[in-house]
Amino acid sequence: MAENVLVIGAAGQIGSELVMELRRIYGNEHVFATDIKQPPADIMDSGPFQFLDVMDDKHLIHFVVRNKISQIYHLAAVLSGNAERLPIQAWNINMESLIKVLEVARMFEEVHKVFWPSSIAVFGPTTPKENTPQLTVMEPTTVYGISKLAGERWCEYYYRRYGVDVRSIRYPGLISYKTEAGGGTTDYAVEIFYAAVKNGSYTCFLNKDTRLPMMFMADAIRATIELMEQPLEKLSIHSSYNVAGISFTPDELASEIRKHIPGFTVNYKPDFRQAIADSWPHSIDDSIARQNNGWKHEYDLPRMTEVMLREIRKKFQKN
Ligand code: SER
Repeated sequence: MAENVLVIGAAGQIGSELVMELRRIYGNEHVFATDIKQPPADIMDSGPFQFLDVMDDKHLIHFVVRNKISQIYHLAAVLSGNAERLPIQAWNINMESLIKVLEVARMFEEVHKVFWPSSIAVFGPTTPKENTPQLTVMEPTTVYGISKLAGERWCEYYYRRYGVDVRSIRYPGLISYKTEAGGGTTDYAVEIFYAAVKNGSYTCFLNKDTRLPMMFMADAIRATIELMEQPLEKLSIHSSYNVAGISFTPDELASEIRKHIPGFTVNYKPDFRQAIADSWPHSIDDSIARQNNGWKHEYDLPRMTEVMLREIRKKFQKN
């Protein structure tokens, strides 16, 4: 039987790329993009899109039944920086939306797989910073991190208690050119490319030596699809998998950009997001994902930088 895939948060940084990949795999008509805002034109033009607020569970249930949904990717969330501005609202949105999706999957057998993103934000200042293991101390200090850690526990709970096959990745900072993130702590690593192309200078909200785990979006999409395609028996983690790509500091990224744009300058003006970044790991040990899913990243810093600059230049030429 054909899979019908629902993507919640299709207009976001991950969703806008994942939808196109899922349409390639399952067929355009079988991948239902939804969001509370309009997604990019290629998503609108290539298959079904509908406005859907995941907090409206009646609408969600109708949607799932009407379209015979068999897989749900729930990507809608308030990211780390924005969540610190409105902690209780962020907690409510992040948690309630996940529970609503898990409940739908529990109630409707046809929904046989769920994907939900976790984050390196589940770790905190007491976590080992280098090669952070899958299983370790987890005392996140941000509301975003607390919601992701609680969410991981709920995912595992629904798997063990009700057999809901929910899969998850602790994404590092994601770097992409199609849709900008919004309100995250790792967003500097996207903004810097736009600023480099447009202005030749950037004011960074983290200081120059802040090392964080990062990943190019093409790798993140592949990691997600590969995880979702694994037979359930091969998975040993039912909370969320550590996956690693690259780790770098703003200063290292700026140096790499300077190889293409020699006069590029960066000023450092750390804001409240510095404390968030300081509480997160420097690098991630993803050996379990490598064993279970054969995971391996493909984009290193030079390759990612080259693609980012090339694609962002193209965007500016079009406009
Ligand atoms: N990239 C996210 C953020 O900065 C972390 O998951 O909020």
